[in-house]
Amino acid sequence: MGYADVYGAWQADPEGWWLNEAKEIAWDRFPSRALFDDKAPIYEWFSDGLVNTCWNAVDRHVEAGNGGRVAIIHDSPVTGVKHKITYSDLRNRVARLAGALRAKGVEKGDRVIIYMPMVPEALEAMLACARIGAVHSVVFGGFAANELATRIDDAKPKAIIAASCGIEPGRVVHYKPLLDGAIDLARHKPDFCVVFQREEEVAHLEEGRDVDWHAFQYGVEPADCVPVEGNHPAYILYTSGTTGQPKGVVRATGGHLVALNWTMKNIYQVQPGDTFWAASDVGWVVGHSYICYAPLIYGATTIVFEGKPVGTPDAGTFWRVIEEHKVVSFFTAPTALRAIKREDPAGKLLDDYDISHLRALYLAGERADPDTVEWAKRVMGVPVYDHWWQTETGWTIVGNPAGIEPLEVKVGSPTLPMPGYDVQILGEDGHPLPPGELGAIAVKLPLPPGTLPTLWNAEDRFRKSYLTTFPGYYETGDAGYRDEDGYLYIMARTDDVINVAGHRLSTGAMEEVLAAHPDVAECAVIGVGDELKGQLPMGFVCTSKGTNKPDAEIAKECVKLVRDRIGPVAAFKLVAVVDRLPKTRSGKILRATMVKIADGQEFKLPATIDDPAILDEITEALKSLGYPKGA
Ligand code: COA
Ligand code: AMP
Repeated sequence: MGYADVYGAWQADPEGWWLNEAKEIAWDRFPSRALFDDKAPIYEWFSDGLVNTCWNAVDRHVEAGNGGRVAIIHDSPVTGVKHKITYSDLRNRVARLAGALRAKGVEKGDRVIIYMPMVPEALEAMLACARIGAVHSVVFGGFAANELATRIDDAKPKAIIAASCGIEPGRVVHYKPLLDGAIDLARHKPDFCVVFQREEEVAHLEEGRDVDWHAFQYGVEPADCVPVEGNHPAYILYTSGTTGQPKGVVRATGGHLVALNWTMKNIYQVQPGDTFWAASDVGWVVGHSYICYAPLIYGATTIVFEGKPVGTPDAGTFWRVIEEHKVVSFFTAPTALRAIKREDPAGKLLDDYDISHLRALYLAGERADPDTVEWAKRVMGVPVYDHWWQTETGWTIVGNPAGIEPLEVKVGSPTLPMPGYDVQILGEDGHPLPPGELGAIAVKLPLPPGTLPTLWNAEDRFRKSYLTTFPGYYETGDAGYRDEDGYLYIMARTDDVINVAGHRLSTGAMEEVLAAHPDVAECAVIGVGDELKGQLPMGFVCTSKGTNKPDAEIAKECVKLVRDRIGPVAAFKLVAVVDRLPKTRSGKILRATMVKIADGQEFKLPATIDDPAILDEITEALKSLGYPKGA
């Protein structure tokens, strides 16, 4: 069967098709049907099934006689550690951790926040939650205490599992003070915190609240897997929206298992026992789906890589890992390859490594620019497959199903929709547009299994953010078009979300932070093009009347404020102090025009602009920041 047959079979009988895929999962009770549409347009999948994620990701492989197979390889060039954990070891470690959590009162449905760097213990914590039906929410280490506090208040966790520190090249990230700060800031207080002490830094434990990772597991009864309903939340993952309040994307258990299991062979060409590597972070959706869950559900070996594409120790690190661990399928963000290309344009470092067992490179997280794709194809000598998806969907919306049939690659397009997704380009009036016309990218409801059923404690926001603009569709927030062959091209976001080094950030959230500066009267944050990171945030601030601080000082304080409130990952370093912001007569800030000027693109003077002279001031301010680049 080729792609067209598979997609056609899904179209002909979507529910039957998914129910059939569900047979690949070990259920305690097989669901009576696939789709539950009684609350449409809120849909659920496999709701009345009973299943456990940890059983499927760990125990069932041991039971099948594969306990000796390596489940996780930790490869950490920043600490010099390399070690392997078999499926049997993983089961024992996770069962003990789950038992310890249960002994301290964590039960099915309780939330647990996980704040850890790229260590196998992060995956063990996720799986231990899944084992007892607790709902985890992993928070990326590059966020500041304030962002962690926002998530604590929204998820209201019973426990927080953290590491003492993370390691960034050249500095230790002190997780524990960030954690303590976040708990101080948050209104909700967890019952207890579990701290995994790393050799690089032993953190102070707060008496009565904090327990040591090893000590609290000592002598506990290991926990068995608790079957949960198919619609039970497996996890909450917060992602950037248009405001400072992140959206808590909910992932339901049954659909998550079925959909991820399907992708491993059909998209990533992986077989059980193969080594699959996603070079991302557990704090992002790619880390959830493709460092932790999918490879383990499928019985493959996954790599937890604690390092960077360059500088740990050099731009050959990725090739070393691919060779050493016999990676057959590799997934990363285009930014990582741009970083390698910048240091080693001819791909010379690859001469030292044998990566001949690699079948393909998969790119996602941001637009894959043709230069980078062509470069990767040339130096790595494997097909390069771009695929497009989001935190909300948890797996590929549009990609190249190479495991079914490698489709023609058109550079610049992530290719065609996966079964489960009916993707349409809609005009402002909500009608589908013909090939070649740019519009909003939307997916006809219901979304497939594995995608978000709702937002945590915010069903109204879910409806407003995704289901209201185009009734009957899920609004992706991306704009693009399709060619005559149905290939999709992603062009831009339709909201305030920007993509910095494959990290999704909200300019709205940064504006909220800048607006809190006592000398800032008004501000705007835009995303400007960047050769390495794709986009970078840039702030424009107008000071309050009577402020007599020098502009440079205010700009410096703004940079510090965003780093302290959102985190270093925002990479917010460009700020201009200006007298006024360009606006329409009705008072809307002309951010899109500012982006065009910064990127050195042609633009039409908006007919509704209030005072065109302000654009000259903006152009001058941009010049002082070195924009447009190369001008
Ligand atoms: N914990 C703490 N801080 C972190 C962090 C983490 N997990 N991850 C990043 N940071 C910090 C960095 O140290 C840096 O701080 P600095 O301002 O003090 O230098 C800042 O956040 C920005 O980090 P980053 O965007 O990673 O930039 P960089 O210049 O350090 O590295 C790349 C550039 C291209 C090498 C890097 O961005 C990269 O590897 N990108 C791939 C992204 C990726 O895999 N995304 C996943 C989506 S699929
Ligand atoms: P995240 O939720 O962090 O995965 O970010 C999702 C967003 O990143 C999408 O809505 C797109 O804007 C962008 N994105 C992800 N993958 C791609 C891709 N392959 N091509 C273009 N943009 C992408």
